[in-house]
Amino acid sequence: MGVAKEVGFTTMGDVKDPLVDIPTVGFGMLGYAFMGKAHSNGLKKLPYMMYPPPAVPVLVNIAGRTERAVAAAAKRFGFKRYCTDWKDLVADEEVQVLDNGAPNNLHAEPTIAAAEAGKHVVCEKPLGRTPKESKAMWQAAREAGVKHMACFNYRFVPAVIQARRLVKDGALGEIFHFRARYGQEWIVDPKFPRVWRLDKSVAGSGALGDLGAHIVDLARFIIGEPVAVNGLLKTFIKARPLPDAPSKTGPVDVDDAFVALFEFQSGAIGTMEASRFSTGRKNFNTFEINGSKGSIAFNLERLNELEVYLADTQPAEANGWRTVLVTESFHPYWENWWPHGHIIGWEHTFVHEFHHFLDCLINGKDISPQGATFEDGYRCDVILEAIANSSAEGGARVKIEY
Ligand SMILES: NC(=O)c1ccc[n+]([C@@H]2O[C@H](COP(=O)([O-])OP(=O)(O)OC[C@H]3O[C@@H](n4cnc5c(N)ncnc54)[C@H](O)[C@@H]3O)[C@@H](O)[C@H]2O)c1
Repeated sequence: MGVAKEVGFTTMGDVKDPLVDIPTVGFGMLGYAFMGKAHSNGLKKLPYMMYPPPAVPVLVNIAGRTERAVAAAAKRFGFKRYCTDWKDLVADEEVQVLDNGAPNNLHAEPTIAAAEAGKHVVCEKPLGRTPKESKAMWQAAREAGVKHMACFNYRFVPAVIQARRLVKDGALGEIFHFRARYGQEWIVDPKFPRVWRLDKSVAGSGALGDLGAHIVDLARFIIGEPVAVNGLLKTFIKARPLPDAPSKTGPVDVDDAFVALFEFQSGAIGTMEASRFSTGRKNFNTFEINGSKGSIAFNLERLNELEVYLADTQPAEANGWRTVLVTESFHPYWENWWPHGHIIGWEHTFVHEFHHFLDCLINGKDISPQGATFEDGYRCDVILEAIANSSAEGGARVKIEY
């Protein structure tokens, strides 16, 4: 457990190893929209905030479908060049890491091709549309001997790492419950178009793979493997306007929401649910863990805070839930940022994630357990499929087997 050493007010101008020799690593980015922007931002911030970095990421090449748009993205984010065919990223000799931020139907083929070409591979979640797809990705990366990381960036929120430490160090005692709820509201309006996230052939699933993947991964990260699940999937709106022809509609063949009951290897039980119909909830990624000695609760919308209850707090009159601001220099990743209390945001999880990736790549460390490997991505997809299979069988208990 941490001990306060520095509050940060006097360390901002520190000169650390000014003459250190820092290697470079070339990145090729697939996709330039939401994740393309978040990843580029993370890679750019990393070398000066996490100084000295294990390597300086070089933004070499970015791929997208539309030349005009990808050219603009290359200029905006600072990539040396752009292309309209992902195969050019794989063929680019200066690209050492393929960073895949494309829709889910474009995760497997480019990532496998890159691994087979000897590139290290980073890929957004859900790793595959099915466990079969993510297993093939994991096998290709393993056989090629390249580093592989699935982008479960919420593993890199300081408060989440702190929560995991409290559980692993036994501060909460025996764990009884893990409850996670991930609510967003952005498709409640029936006029919202049928974007790729609502098309099974592209996305694989709906709220399940989009939001459920994150909370399933957090459950595995913090309290361990689930062994069985009962699930229920629901699609509230079954047809929506087509993005390119709004007077016509197309079918929605993915879930809008799911709920699931879990039993964990440790004996704990849990619930997880996710929905894009949680009216009023913006990015309400939350969990609560209850143990014999205490509890913790987290809400991504207040990501610098961890709610903690420790049963043996003295004096008893002061006992109760407390809000811990996870911004002390001994908190995970914090010494790279600001004086305590000068909070960080969602985008900084990508700085931490890529720092971890480069540290593992350059210094021969393992991506796991802090980061998610492609094996973790595959295991997550197995669990998501088990939830869907259970729902298809009327909520029957389905064993989770890898
Ligand atoms: N970790 C997270 O918090 C998080 C958040 C959002 C999305 N994601 C994941 O990131 C991935 C991308 O999601 P997004 O929100 O960035 O999607 P998006 O729709 O915003 O962007 C997708 C990008 O892929 C590009 N693209 C699509 N087809 C292509 C093709 N054939 N060739 C080249 N480029 C192509 C598009 O032009 C666009 O730039 C998904 O797997 C999603 O699940 C993760």
